[in-house]
Order: sequence, then structure tokens, then C-alpha cells
Amino acid sequence: MAGKLCLTHLMLLALTCRETAVRCHALTGSPAVDPPEDLLISDPGHLGHLDISWSVPAAVRNLTPECARSVYQLEYFNTNTHSWSAVRTARSSYRAQFDLMKDVRVRVYTLLDGPCTNGTVIKSQNYTEVVRRPAGTGVVGTEVQDFLCVYQNMEHLECRWRPSPKTPAHSLQSLYFWHRELDRAEECPEYILSGGVRSGCDFTDKPLPDFTDINFCVNGSSPDGPLRPSFFSLQIQNHVKPEPTQLHLQVEAGQLQLQWGRPAGRVPGHCLDWQVEHNQEGPDGKMKSEKLNLQQTSFALTSVHDKDRSCFRVRSKLSKYCADRSFWSEWSQPACCPEEEAVPEPEPDLVLVYVYVAIAIIAMLVVLLCVGLVLKVRRSRKTKTPDSLLTTLFARNSVVVATEA
Ligand SMILES: *[C@@H]1O[C@H](CO)[C@@H](O)[C@H](O)[C@H]1NC(C)=O
Ligand SMILES: *[C@@H]1O[C@H](CO)[C@@H](O)[C@H](O)[C@H]1NC(C)=O
Ligand SMILES: *[C@@H]1O[C@H](CO)[C@@H](O)[C@H](O)[C@H]1NC(C)=O
Repeated sequence: MAGKLCLTHLMLLALTCRETAVRCHALTGSPAVDPPEDLLISDPGHLGHLDISWSVPAAVRNLTPECARSVYQLEYFNTNTHSWSAVRTARSSYRAQFDLMKDVRVRVYTLLDGPCTNGTVIKSQNYTEVVRRPAGTGVVGTEVQDFLCVYQNMEHLECRWRPSPKTPAHSLQSLYFWHRELDRAEECPEYILSGGVRSGCDFTDKPLPDFTDINFCVNGSSPDGPLRPSFFSLQIQNHVKPEPTQLHLQVEAGQLQLQWGRPAGRVPGHCLDWQVEHNQEGPDGKMKSEKLNLQQTSFALTSVHDKDRSCFRVRSKLSKYCADRSFWSEWSQPACCPEEEAVPEPEPDLVLVYVYVAIAIIAMLVVLLCVGLVLKVRRSRKTKTPDSLLTTLFARNSVVVATEA
């Protein structure tokens, strides 16, 4: 009944709109626009990128473009922002990204606009709505945990996960991914194993495009049946972790000059924000730490107390002008001033060496002295012995001679 009424209204609208705009306007005063029909959500297997389609409501189908144009307002619940998103399109289909682990809720309105509506937009009072529930297949509680992708220095993308504690033994997990350039979802090019179990995927040899949604699904099979699939969607430029850099420090005219370079590789230098950490040991032995955010790759400090040792290190991440978010790089090796505290370690070693050398020299001297003495004694004995022999011989002979005589 209501549909028929609307239809007649619109037909009337179409017939009369060319005559006088005044009458047209009078007609548009009543709500006569139906919402679209046959709203459908279909999954082409793109891991969350869903097709939504609908057909033109019967009452609008007969309107000529000279009279009024029909446009559709599509509203869908965005699970990422937890709010409704709205788009307007003249077509009768749309594609959007959804989280397949949650309800997908879509509403579509019809809007009419044109000479017949006197420049105002008429919106259907009601909408057509479809709610798609998650498939809910798989062993309950087996969704993976802590799924995390890191795009190391914009060169190596790795995604890792942890299996749920409820995952049955001897399960085999698989990762699939899809993005706009692919016709269908593909499997991970190279799995990362830990303890013989798949725990991540390495995309180094299969680069993924940036500034476009990449959809991931981790599913799997187990002796108890299929594992419950987990879905993730991200853009890789928001997962960059720059390489750590090297920090140089020098003292010039009472100023501490800090300087560091940009990491080699694909990360654009102008995209990096820097953070310098200054650790200083106070006179009471307490460490004082402060962090400084910088855009440039150098930094000078005047108020450094000579006595207190200061250490610095630096790290970087992508600025908000280049990516929505980024991981901090690892810290650089610390650079300190004064460089190294006087370490008294090598000295005892040297002293010991000197002592050993001295002892060795003394020992050698003593040995030489002894040998010399012995030799001297022996030589003096050798020269003495023949003499005494002769004398004794002479003495004996003389005694013999004396007794013979
Ligand atoms: C069209 O609408 C405007 C207000 O939006 C009104 O002032 C004007 O009179 C209307 N014109 C006709 C022809 O109805
Ligand atoms: C609007 O449409 C929805 C279904 O699309 C229906 O459940 C609801 O009752 C309608 N509301 C009105 C006021 O007609
Ligand atoms: C995992 O997902 C992929 C892609 O949707 C599908 O081809 C595969 O059959 C699924 N595997 C299991 C065990 O469900």
C-alpha cells in the first residue's frame, strides 16, 4: 500500500516537474523515496574486502535523468574506528574493508536530486540494512595472539604471531594475504619457524605495496578440526622500524657537539624524527635522564658540568607527515663524555710485568755470578793442583833421597 502510494507520488513528480517548479516543490514536500532493494554482502575471498550491492528501488527506476538523479548513501560500521562511516555513490555497488571476526553492518539510503526536487536533496526516510555475522567456524579460542608486522628499515617485512594456549598439539597454522594487486589470496612465501612450529612469515623476497590495505588471515588445521581464523588489515608504511644509527660526540670550544647519520636504505631522510637521551650522573651518584625530540641530525649542548659524566644515545622513527605511526628504532651505541672513566686496570699488569722482568734480570745476574764464581774457583783449583802435586812430589823425592842418603 505504502509502496504504491510512493510510486504514484514519484510518477506524478516525474510528470509535473517540467511544467512548473512551484508544483514540483509542492510535491516533494511529502516523503516519497524508497530505500534500495536486494542489499547483498558477498565475500570474494579477499580476507575482509567485501562487495556490497543493491538494486534501484522500483519507484525510482522510472525517473528520467532530466527530472532527478538517484544517489545512494551507504553507511557501515567501521570496526577500526568504532564509528559509522558514510559514503555517497551513484553506482549500485561498493567495496569496503571489514573485520571478518566481527559483525558487518551495512545500511543504504536512496537520495533524489535534480530539477524536480528544486535543488534540495530528498532522502528516503528508512534504510535497507544487512548484518553479516562472523562465520564462527573452527575450534573455539584458537585465534592467534599478538599478531605484529614490522617493516625493518622499509626493506624487510616480517609478521609474527603467538598461537593461542588452546591450540591443540600437532596443529599446522597458515598465513594468507591479499592486496588490491592480487586476484586471490596467496599463502606466505616463507614461514618463520620457532621450535619447529610456524610463528611468522618473512616477506623479504615478495615485497608488498605500501599505502594500500594488506589483508592477512592466519588459519590452520588441527587433529580437533580447523582452527578459528584470525583476520588483520594494515598498511605497511605504518609499521616501519628504522635501523639504529651511530652517534658521534666531540667537545669543541666548551660545547658538546652531537652528530649522527641517517640510516642507509629506503627510509627517506626527511621522514625521520629523532630522540636523544641524555643520561648524567650527578654528584650524589644518582642518574638523571632526559629525552629530547629533534628533527635535525645534530645537536649542541653548552651546560655540561666537567666533572659529571654524560652519556647520550639516539633513536629514530617516522614522522607523522610520512606515516600514521611507526616503531622506534633500537638505540644507538651510547657515546659518553668524558669518554671512558680512567680505568686503573692496566697499571697493575704493567707493574707486574716490570717486577717479573726485574726478577728475571736479577735471577739471570745471580746465575751468571754463580757460574762465574764456580768457573773462577775451578780455574784457580786447576792451576793450583799441578803445583802442589809437584811440590809434594819434590817433597817426597827429597824425603826419599834423604832417606836413601
Ligand atoms: C526552491 O526552494 C527555495 C528554498 O530552498 C525557495 O526559496 C524557492 O521558492 C523554491 N522555488 C520553487 C520554484 O519552489
Ligand atoms: C526500516 O527498515 C528496517 C529494515 O531495513 C526495518 O526493520 C524497520 O522497521 C524500518 N523502519 C521503519 C520506520 O519503517
Ligand atoms: C585458510 O584460508 C585460505 C584463504 O582463505 C583458504 O584457502 C584455506 O583453505 C584456509 N585453510 C583452512 C585450513 O581453513
